[in-house]
Amino acid sequence: MMSDMLEIDDVYTAYDKADVLEGVTLAIEPGRITCLLGSNGSGKSTLIRSILGLTPPRAGQITFDGADITGLPTHKVIAAGIACIPEGRKVFAKLTAEENLRLGAYQETSDAVTQERMAEIYRLFPRLAERREQLAGTMSGGEQAMVSIGRGLMRAPKLLLIDEPSLGLSPLLVKENFNIIRQINERGITVLLVEQNVHQTLAISHCGFVLSKGRVATSGAPSELAVRKEVRDAYFA
Ligand SMILES: Nc1ncnc2c1ncn2[C@@H]1O[C@H](COP(=O)(O)OP(=O)(O)OP(=O)(O)O)[C@@H](O)[C@H]1O
Ligand SMILES: [Mg+2]
Repeated sequence: MMSDMLEIDDVYTAYDKADVLEGVTLAIEPGRITCLLGSNGSGKSTLIRSILGLTPPRAGQITFDGADITGLPTHKVIAAGIACIPEGRKVFAKLTAEENLRLGAYQETSDAVTQERMAEIYRLFPRLAERREQLAGTMSGGEQAMVSIGRGLMRAPKLLLIDEPSLGLSPLLVKENFNIIRQINERGITVLLVEQNVHQTLAISHCGFVLSKGRVATSGAPSELAVRKEVRDAYFA
């Protein structure tokens, strides 16, 4: 059996006193798209923040590629090979699309590697190539989403955490976004996807977990999850 890329073992995370995550245990296999479903406030973003060391767990363990990363400072988690596209797709508005991408590669010392990765991102997003000199703040929501995803890819991460990439996008751009995530995964990057569009998410995922009240309520293959009560309760109640 292939060993897991990311293991989350009995993680408890709190912002002040009350625990938001109350013993989350799950594993992500390399090469797959794993989705994380759950109602608003169930702790999905908190789990991502816990992995990234932005809100370190108060108990439990997170293992990445066999190494304990629990509570490491965020820059060390990123250096280990985890990238994140945060909720809200933040771009640097006063910088051009290309400058935004370049910032994503700030730890890369080789100019040739930076150029090659940028070329790869422009192949993935031809529209960004055309608009590389445009200020990111003047780009459309969908184009800003591409900049944000592109910046996350500039470090060539092994694992990409994506938090609600289609929030606020038109149905057409949502569809485009899902296609892009699939393409990224086909290029060998493991993905943890948090999304509200349950049907489209299950359609591109290989497996998924459902969070409820800070715990994993159920998990399984997309076809199984699609008919589970826990999924219906989370989204269609
Ligand atoms: N910085 C914070 N300080 C205090 N409480 C917080 C903070 N961030 C989140 N919470 C609380 O933690 C709980 C889980 O929030 P979280 O953002 O992880 O949920 P989520 O599953 O990502 O929800 P959504 O689908 O709405 O994005 C919520 O009750 C939220 O109010
Ligand atoms: Mg969230």
